[in-house]
Amino acid sequence: MRGRTPRWRCVFAVVCALLAAAGIAISLTWGRVFDSVVARQVALVPGSRSFREWEAPSVPLFMDVYLFNWTNSENFPQEKPHLVQLGPYRFKEHRQHVNVTWHVNNGSMAYRTLRSWHFQPSSNGSLDDNVTMLNIIAASAIYRARDWGFLEQKMLSMSLAMFGQHMVVSKPARELLFEGYEDALLDVAKTLPASATGGAPPVDRFGLFYERNNSITTDGYMEVSTGVDSGTLPGQVLRWNYEDYLPYYTGECAKNRYDSRFLREMFLYATLRRSSIKGWNGKTRTYLLKGSAGEFLPRDLTERSAVTVFVPDLCRSIQLTHKLSGELGGLPYHRYSVAPESFDNSTSSHHNTCFCNGDCSWGGVMNVSACRYGSPSFISLPHFLHADPALAAAVSGLQPDEDKHSFYFSVEPNLGVPLEVAARFQLNVLIEPNPNIALYEKVPKMLFPIFWVEQSVQTEASIIEELVYARTILEWGATVCACTALLLLVLVALATCCVPRHKYARPADGAIISEKPKDEAEIKLNNL
Ligand SMILES: *[C@@H]1O[C@H](CO)[C@@H](O)[C@H](O)[C@H]1NC(C)=O
Ligand SMILES: *[C@@H]1O[C@H](CO)[C@@H](O)[C@H](O)[C@H]1NC(C)=O
Ligand SMILES: *[C@@H]1O[C@H](CO)[C@@H](O)[C@H](O)[C@H]1NC(C)=O
Ligand SMILES: *[C@@H]1O[C@H](CO)[C@@H](O)[C@H](O)[C@H]1NC(C)=O
Ligand SMILES: *[C@@H]1O[C@H](CO)[C@@H](O)[C@H](O)[C@H]1NC(C)=O
Ligand SMILES: *[C@@H]1O[C@H](CO)[C@@H](O)[C@H](O)[C@H]1NC(C)=O
Ligand SMILES: *[C@@H]1O[C@H](CO)[C@@H](O)[C@H](O)[C@H]1NC(C)=O
Repeated sequence: MRGRTPRWRCVFAVVCALLAAAGIAISLTWGRVFDSVVARQVALVPGSRSFREWEAPSVPLFMDVYLFNWTNSENFPQEKPHLVQLGPYRFKEHRQHVNVTWHVNNGSMAYRTLRSWHFQPSSNGSLDDNVTMLNIIAASAIYRARDWGFLEQKMLSMSLAMFGQHMVVSKPARELLFEGYEDALLDVAKTLPASATGGAPPVDRFGLFYERNNSITTDGYMEVSTGVDSGTLPGQVLRWNYEDYLPYYTGECAKNRYDSRFLREMFLYATLRRSSIKGWNGKTRTYLLKGSAGEFLPRDLTERSAVTVFVPDLCRSIQLTHKLSGELGGLPYHRYSVAPESFDNSTSSHHNTCFCNGDCSWGGVMNVSACRYGSPSFISLPHFLHADPALAAAVSGLQPDEDKHSFYFSVEPNLGVPLEVAARFQLNVLIEPNPNIALYEKVPKMLFPIFWVEQSVQTEASIIEELVYARTILEWGATVCACTALLLLVLVALATCCVPRHKYARPADGAIISEKPKDEAEIKLNNL
């Protein structure tokens, strides 16, 4: 009985010492330990939590569409267009990622996105609302004809009159959005060679979001990194539509700018569909961490970090810069937003020059014509926020407001998890005078606002709690490990100092030593 106590103490001391050493080691490398745990959590591998959330997101996603009703179109162009904002028309989005293919050899994954939208009665307005909008079909045809000869333009002018084309169309919102409406000009376009329509596929109807519902082709084919290979982050766009460059731009802008380490595919907002006269949709593509509507962003973001995101429907990436910092449910965040110069045609940032594809006329708008089959589409922030004041002055009824119209996301900086996202864009159509086309003889040159869309996601309270928890572990883990190690060392000291020096103690120690090899032998046998 006497010999048992020291033996027990010795075992205890050894175990404590080992644990203390481990504790010190973990505490010294805490950052890296935490990183590897997080990396394993967010890696996109079959069956992982991250993958399941990403494949069929459970977080509710909504898309709010605001249409501009042109209320004095009969007095155009004598009177400035007066626009009344209608909406929001709210749609709930159901999203699924399909055709997922894993490429183990290069740590990538390819997929397509399948989405459907469901109208919500909580909308401010109904889908039967009659809305008057610029006739985009005619505007596209006239824009396409801008370099044609006199005779061809005259012929277009006559056909526009023949097919009953007017400056505006008045249709119920449901047709303008998802259902589409028929138009004689679309039937004519079907008979033309592809070269005359900019390669746009023939369609029967025109709608801003026509053929987007339940389609897997609109978003394109995406290839992203899985984050399995060390040093890579998940969700990085590697290829889009089988290309690793942007075919719509030249020089720097064509380079695979979205392949950089800091580039994440994130809230991807759509504009006109990749056709001159087809629809538009607001799109988000998210990589979900812990069920939040977040994407994979770089960790340890600072106020000086710039976050670049690839937006397929702009056919380019845009940069978001730090705007402010705040706190949400006890969690600090940095808010990154589209700065005036990141959404610009090069008046304030020369990096954007190669995105202009033309005369870089106005600041604060993007010419997305090249990736929309040559339609006169231009993207800005809603109500021309941060854009050239001349744009908003050309119409009446717009009131840019930073709070309502900016594009931003708020991120928990240490973990890189988005807490709040407001992705907003406005689609505008360019019109300009053409002396040979009767319909556009006297129009001013302007960008005509058509609609804007917002997709905002707020992280649920339970996820915020989880994040507060994770953050606490990140912050205090090293200290807790160090303290535990210290405590263990004290126990080791106590156990070794107070060993009673009885003569029977020695054999007991020997017993341990002799037992050990036996254990090892057993383990070896078991392994065999
Ligand atoms: C849109 O404007 C037209 C023309 O002024 C008007 O007739 C129509 O009622 C308006 N629509 C709504 C939903 O207010
Ligand atoms: C609803 O729409 C009307 C215009 O149709 C607008 O005057 C009103 O402010 C909107 N309400 C909200 C809550 O947006
Ligand atoms: C892709 O997914 C869609 C929708 O789930 C399915 O109909 C189609 O057959 C799939 N295509 C391939 C090549 O797997
Ligand atoms: C990864 O490998 C697959 C074939 O296994 C290939 O189709 C794909 O293009 C590769 N992706 C990249 C980014 O190299
Ligand atoms: C989209 O398609 C679904 C059926 O898959 C339908 O229930 C829904 O109403 C459609 N959404 C719109 C906006 O038409
Ligand atoms: C919209 O206009 C059409 C014809 O112009 C009319 O028949 C219909 O009742 C109008 N709908 C609403 C909701 O005002
Ligand atoms: C917009 O881009 C298209 C296609 O690249 C180009 O032809 C056009 O001139 C540009 N328009 C303006 C106003 O910059």
